Amino acid sequence: MQEGKKIIFSGMQPTGEPHLGNYLGALKNWASLQDSNEYFGIYSIVDMHSITVRQDPAELRKKARNLFMSYMAIGIDPEKSLLFFQSHVPGHAELSWILNCFTYMGELSRMTQYKEKSLKHADNINAGLFTYPVLMAADILLYGSHLVPIGDDQRQHMELCRDIAHRFNTIYGDVFVIPEGYYPKTGARIMGLQEPAKKMSKSDATNESNVVFLSDTPDIILSKFKRAVTDSGSEIKAAADKPGIANLLAIYCAISKKSLEEAEAEFASAGYGDFKKRVGEAVVEELRPIQQKLDELSKNRDYVDSLIKANAEKAVAASQRILRKVKKKVGYPS
Ligand code: TRP
Repeated sequence: MQEGKKIIFSGMQPTGEPHLGNYLGALKNWASLQDSNEYFGIYSIVDMHSITVRQDPAELRKKARNLFMSYMAIGIDPEKSLLFFQSHVPGHAELSWILNCFTYMGELSRMTQYKEKSLKHADNINAGLFTYPVLMAADILLYGSHLVPIGDDQRQHMELCRDIAHRFNTIYGDVFVIPEGYYPKTGARIMGLQEPAKKMSKSDATNESNVVFLSDTPDIILSKFKRAVTDSGSEIKAAADKPGIANLLAIYCAISKKSLEEAEAEFASAGYGDFKKRVGEAVVEELRPIQQKLDELSKNRDYVDSLIKANAEKAVAASQRILRKVKKKVGYPS
């Protein structure tokens, strides 16, 4: 790990297929931070979090590997950043246990995500689901992370992480870095193509065309954009009463790096149909090299395996410094 650089840490569960919302809202920015002299990026595929809900084992393994390759395909370079499976680094579970002993039942029972998930999975309200935010705090604190780019829905977990770190430091001295959450600006929030009032997500949508997956073929992408909901009127403007058009403009801007004004001017004389087609084409072109890279990686099993192994080893080594300190502080025998 580069000395002197601040650490950016983020995690993503391997349960859903990566989509355009994940890519434009998060992954693309992570890749572009790689060459910064200020930050070193650590990205974990948090498979341990995923088993708080029942998973099909073969499917989970496949998705985790696919996510690893997707991160690489979008430009995260496992030679420059650290990219690994959470389950390959025992320090996450070890620190998580210790932090459990510094987290109160009351705090965890106030977590809205826990409450929502308990309703959704009423037949399996397991202890892992309850302590999920503690494992997340361990992920972050284990590497001395400074900045955590994360969705708005994770704000409460992030605050709890800071509270736990602060509590521990108050008792034992400055062991943990107190991390900051970094929340995307609204412009980077990509909404569903069918339900533009809600974040693009597979789980909530009733309609397949709501989400564009990174693995969708050009034909599928174009047809999803063709079917994207628009709003009344015919003007292409990002107005409050035009959530569908505003979202398509946001997608176009994120890809073309144009400002909203520039994009609106560009489409001033276009009709909705033409506009949707052109946004769809821009997405197809953006994803083309990513899909090619993904295809190459899928054919190169040994190469990917060697990167997975090398990165896991680096992450294990990186996790030791703080973990050792914590174990000593709480009184584990040396
Ligand atoms: N809970 C996060 C989510 O669902 C995933 C996650 C786990 C995470 N550990 C993390 C995100 C650490 C950032 C940092 O989005």
